[in-house]
Amino acid sequence: MNENVRIAVVGATGVVGREVLSALLDQGVPSERLAALASERSEAVELEYGEDTLELEKTTPESFRGVGLVLLATPASASRKLAPVAQAAGAWVVDASSAFRADGNVPLVLPTFNPEVLGATFKGRIVSIPSAVSSALVSIIAPLQKAFGGVVRAQVTAMMGVSSAGVSGVGELEKQTAGLLSAREPEAHAFPHRIGFNLVPQVGPFMANSPWTEEEAGWTLEAARLFGARGETPVIAGTAVQVPTFYGHGLSVHVQLKVPAPVEQARAALKTSPALKVLDAPTEKVYPMPMLIAGDPAIHVGRLRTFPQAPEWLSLFAVVDNAGRGGALNLVEAGLRLLQRPA
Ligand SMILES: NC(=O)c1ccc[n+]([C@@H]2O[C@H](COP(=O)([O-])OP(=O)(O)OC[C@H]3O[C@@H](n4cnc5c(N)ncnc54)[C@H](OP(=O)(O)O)[C@@H]3O)[C@@H](O)[C@H]2O)c1
Repeated sequence: MNENVRIAVVGATGVVGREVLSALLDQGVPSERLAALASERSEAVELEYGEDTLELEKTTPESFRGVGLVLLATPASASRKLAPVAQAAGAWVVDASSAFRADGNVPLVLPTFNPEVLGATFKGRIVSIPSAVSSALVSIIAPLQKAFGGVVRAQVTAMMGVSSAGVSGVGELEKQTAGLLSAREPEAHAFPHRIGFNLVPQVGPFMANSPWTEEEAGWTLEAARLFGARGETPVIAGTAVQVPTFYGHGLSVHVQLKVPAPVEQARAALKTSPALKVLDAPTEKVYPMPMLIAGDPAIHVGRLRTFPQAPEWLSLFAVVDNAGRGGALNLVEAGLRLLQRPA
């Protein structure tokens, strides 16, 4: 890697952007190589970066001059505008939003699943990463695919913490919880209904003329792109539910394998993946929970079960750190690998 390449983090004030800075600090990237960018709302805000301070700049086309890598942790509407500008300025671009996930001209990369794409030839300089839920599902299904000769389908209920909606989602749950405990009826802004002491079976907007939300449709599409490139086609579908926790998405997953999956063998298969941590001793109260996940780069998996009437179905519960593993780490790992490509 060229040690002098400048890196721009766009969306640095956001839930994912702050985790990106933390991951870059862990990788030893000095503050002099960084530009921390956001919207004009954040101009001159200061962020701590180890012992240094980064001053936020508003993002303009000039922001990408002399920058080798642009990490976009911005809403899809902003990424759609900024990615081509950064690409035209000669930078590699990795985008965390949904803007390019369905675009066949833009590689979809999960660095723990298909890192080889980052060294291969592809059109343009923009790379997209999957959503937090898709990346967790693919990471869980991949070792099961390998061990059991294939996965037919996976049915999922994703219980998504409010940080999935960024800083405004976190603020809304804080405010509503405090308000409701003081008997004040809250107003809903970031979510379609009150989220304090509630569950909302809608995360993000619905697809046009469809009963599926964009979040849910994204799991099916992204898994098809990632597994499809290997000639494998598990069908992934389910329900996204917004839940009143802050960080961490819980996933109740039922996987149909090609052959019966004894629990011991399934556990052994999941343990082979460095992307996963198996927490599965339920009688000792050991299983994945959002309160255990913050900052863990591994996806937690547990509560493994089968039932005799349908032995090829495996049930499990998983938790992913949505902002870290499910967003920032994929962004940073993909970006730093792109910088290792020969010039
Ligand atoms: N949250 C998650 O769990 C998660 C996981 C994976 C992927 N993602 C994706 O990552 C992206 C960021 O999500 P988030 O949760 O971090 O959102 P967020 O907390 O709302 O942060 C959004 C960031 O984007 C900046 N921004 C907004 N419009 C901009 C513009 N026109 N130009 C430059 N910067 C702009 C904001 O700056 P200001 O502070 O100045 O407004 C803020 O820094 C989204 O596309 C999301 O879908 C999120």
